[in-house]
Amino acid sequence: MAQFALPKNSKIKTGQLIDASNGSENSKIFKVYRYDPDSGDNPRWDKYKIDLNACGPMVLDAIIYIKDKVDSTLTFRRSCREGICGSCAMNIDGTNTLACLQAIEDVKGEVQISPLPHRPVVKDLVPDVNKIYEQYAEIQPWLKNNDLPEDGKERLQSAEDANLLNGGDGHGPAACILCFCCSTSCPSYWWNGDKFMGPAVLLQAYRWIADTRDDATQERLDALEDPFKLYRCHTIMNCTKTCPKGLNPALAIAEIKKQMVAKG
Ligand code: SF4
Ligand code: SF4
Ligand code: FES
Repeated sequence: MAQFALPKNSKIKTGQLIDASNGSENSKIFKVYRYDPDSGDNPRWDKYKIDLNACGPMVLDAIIYIKDKVDSTLTFRRSCREGICGSCAMNIDGTNTLACLQAIEDVKGEVQISPLPHRPVVKDLVPDVNKIYEQYAEIQPWLKNNDLPEDGKERLQSAEDANLLNGGDGHGPAACILCFCCSTSCPSYWWNGDKFMGPAVLLQAYRWIADTRDDATQERLDALEDPFKLYRCHTIMNCTKTCPKGLNPALAIAEIKKQMVAKG
C-alpha cells in the first residue's frame, strides 16, 4: 500500500505554554497557530493561558489582549471589531468565522485558532488571499451602464429589485463583506482554486448579474461560461454553512447556473 507523509517542514510542532492568568479562577487557554516563513522553522502551536476578567468577551478581544500584554510577536488582521470589515476571519475551534463575532464562552475547553485553511500563510494567523482578490477583480465588480440616469442624477430601483441585492431580510449578496470564510471552506476551491472562482467571488458575480441597473448581464454570464470558473461547484454547501454573516453563496451560484441555462 502506498505510504504518504507530510513534508518535514509542514509538521506543526508543540510550542510554548505561557501562563499569564495570574492565578485567576476565570482563565482559559488559547491554542494559537504560529508560523514565520522567514525563520525556516516549522509551524507550532503556542498556548496562552489568560485571565478572562482582564479582556473582552470575544475571541478577537483575547488575541488583542495576548498581543498587547503577553506576546507582541503574535500577528493577525483586524480592523472594525464589528463584523463589518471581514479582516479578522480565521479558523476557530474548527470553523471558519470572524474572531470579533465569536464569543469566547461559546467555545468549550481550549480555544484553538489557526489561519483560514488551504491558503499560503504570510505569518501566524494571516493568510495570503491575493489569488481570491485577483479572481474578484476578474468578475469586474462595478456597475456597467453607459446611459445617463433618467433624471440625470441617480438610478432608482423598485423595492423588489433592491431585494435581489439586499435580500428581504438583509442577507442578500450585497451584504457580503469579502471575509473569504466561505471560499476557504469549500473543498472544490481547495483542489481547483486556481481555476474555480469559489463561492465568495461567485456570490459577488451574482450581485452584479442580479443588479437591474447593470447592462452587462450577458457579458458577465459569458465570462463565467467555462468548465472550471462556475461549474466546479458541486453544491456541497460548506460555504453557506460557514458564512458568519448568514449569507447563502450556494444559492447565488445556483441562480447563476439557472441564468446560464436560460441564456442557452
Ligand atoms: S456549494 Fe459549491 S461553492 Fe459552496 S462549498 Fe459547496 S462546492 Fe463550494
Ligand atoms: S459570502 Fe459570507 S463567508 Fe463568503 S465572503 Fe461573503 S460574508 Fe464572507
Ligand atoms: S475586525 Fe472587522 S470583521 Fe472582525
